[in-house]
Amino acid sequence: MNYEQAKDVLKQNGQDHLLQFWTKLDKAAQKALLEQIESIDFREVARCREMLANREKPAAKKKGVPTAPEVTFLKGALQKKAIAAGERELAAGRVGVLLVAGGQGSRLGFDGPKGAYPIGPITNAPLFYFHARKVLALSRRYNARIPFYVMTSMANYADTVAHFEEHGYYGLDKKDVIFFKQGMWPGMTEDGKIILDQPGHVFMSPDGHGGMLAALKANGCFKDMARRGVETLFYFQVDNPLVNVAEPAFIGLHVLQKAEYSLKLCAKRGGREGLGMVVRRGGHFDMIEYTEMTREMNFRRTEDGELYFKYGSPAIHVFDRAFLEREAEKDMPLHLAHKKIATVNAAGRIVKPTAPNGYKFEKFIFDILPEAKRVALVAFDRRDEFAPVKNASGKDSPETCRAALRAKWRRQLEGEVHIAVPADMPLEIDPLYMYDGGDILKRGFLLKKD
Ligand code: UTP
Repeated sequence: MNYEQAKDVLKQNGQDHLLQFWTKLDKAAQKALLEQIESIDFREVARCREMLANREKPAAKKKGVPTAPEVTFLKGALQKKAIAAGERELAAGRVGVLLVAGGQGSRLGFDGPKGAYPIGPITNAPLFYFHARKVLALSRRYNARIPFYVMTSMANYADTVAHFEEHGYYGLDKKDVIFFKQGMWPGMTEDGKIILDQPGHVFMSPDGHGGMLAALKANGCFKDMARRGVETLFYFQVDNPLVNVAEPAFIGLHVLQKAEYSLKLCAKRGGREGLGMVVRRGGHFDMIEYTEMTREMNFRRTEDGELYFKYGSPAIHVFDRAFLEREAEKDMPLHLAHKKIATVNAAGRIVKPTAPNGYKFEKFIFDILPEAKRVALVAFDRRDEFAPVKNASGKDSPETCRAALRAKWRRQLEGEVHIAVPADMPLEIDPLYMYDGGDILKRGFLLKKD
């Protein structure tokens, strides 16, 4: 794109101000700005502007009274059947793994991709290590290729790839680790003007985990999956090293129930806990974001005193590839967040706001839930699979996550293999050595002391 072309596009879209400092920029900055302008999807920008103008929340358009859905508990004969079905899928190479790691991790405040954050209680192994080694464990166990699709953003793509290179892909075959970039969207002021945060730079941020659909399509990942014969995708988030990646029972239930979208759900700790809630509404399943749950909904109880809306989603999903491909053709709802965004004043000086002054837009992957023809909901014990690293300290921090990892390993050793582990003993297990208790029964065990 050259200057004249950029000028035309911006004029058509009411964003001419992006070139106001053009003559003050050096050649390199001019080139970078043109590249940024070229990368902006003005059709999506128009949708964002419309949303700002109408101040609408996607949830406001939804009709029907939400009710609590039925949840499946995987045990007994059903569990055995599900495991067998999942193992068949994995062994046949029909399963892929999708990791969304394009977020900014601003609450954690770590310098680098969040997946590089050291979390191993003894070794300080990073989050990526635990994810990758689980993929490797399953691909060895089932003697199958399991492609690992890793979503990054423009901001952390290069560092993420470099991290995997540096660590030899944690033993995975490089050809089976596919990095792709999600879209970036410009921030806007109240009146729909795109924000310059420097004279030659547009403020842009990743388009949310829902940006995964457009990114899978744009980067040829659906084609890659089809070529490999991948039909089912396990989805999870980078900040939770407890996840049982592509767990056979979960994959199997999804397949047995011919679901398009399956979700693992755990009981909320109490009415106040902020977890997205899966509900039934108007003949569909739907996710209500915790910010959109009313007090009445949060605290409603059944006759037995249980929370009525009890099961929340920690973002552990299984998708049918065909379903994702179908949804990638549609527009997703947009969510806006009011943020403090640095701007440039008329003199070209950077101004740091003290109060929110602009909007960021995001898409959420769970917004496709109502579109799924069949859905499977599986209850799980949160202690086994949910301890995200969100904050630098306190709740959902590295400290709580490490404690949860240690407790999970201890439970596995004690419960499944009957090895007593003193509570204060430092403990860390390579997932390649023990993806679950079944492995340890076959191979023995590993304990490390300081
Ligand atoms: P979070 O909602 O926790 O956001 O993302 P975050 O960006 O990681 O952290 P904060 O809010 O800035 O502190 C949940 C998951 O979705 C991914 C994240 O990488 C994480 O795995 N995500 C989020 C993306 O891949 N892209 C995005 O645009 C946003």
